[in-house]
Amino acid sequence: MSIATHHLKLIIILAFLIHGEMVYAETGKAPDPGAVIQGKILYEKYCLICHQKDGVGEEQLPWGVRLPEFTPAMPLNETSHAWHHADEGLAITILEGPRSTKRMPAFKNILSREEVRKTIAYIKSLWSPRIIACQGPKHMRCM
Ligand code: HEC
Repeated sequence: MSIATHHLKLIIILAFLIHGEMVYAETGKAPDPGAVIQGKILYEKYCLICHQKDGVGEEQLPWGVRLPEFTPAMPLNETSHAWHHADEGLAITILEGPRSTKRMPAFKNILSREEVRKTIAYIKSLWSPRIIACQGPKHMRCM
């Protein structure tokens, strides 16, 4: 292998690593304790009204009935599937609002990206280490 191809390979690997780091910054990792404390305050102010204390969610309608206007807020603790999403996916849902319902507002004009990241840190503090390790695209292999 020539020096040039060797360097090119290194650059490609590096670019991949840096990109991966940006996109999945904390996916699969325990949240930063400082971010959790600040995230809890944000959660209580903006999310608790629907997702309830400790992220237990609202009661679901019987027989799996779904009405777009009344879609109950699912749990964000580990009993539902928030942990199937990588941090970036959760951030997009919070910033843009879920596609499934208009009931949850988009938070992009209310919370900064940094605040969203802290809110996600709090949500992740509700998950056990096993679930955190299985977060995101890996969840299929962890069931
Ligand atoms: C007005 C009620 C309401 C508020 C306030 C609200 N949500 Fe939601 N949230 C919902 C509903 C309803 C859904 C979608 C349920 C469905 O599609 O079954 C949802 C879905 C989500 C999801 C997707 C979970 C998944 O498993 O795919 C995330 C993440 C989420 N909310 C986080 C938040 C965060 C963080 C906040 C506060 C910044 C917040 N929500 C505030 C009602 C709310």
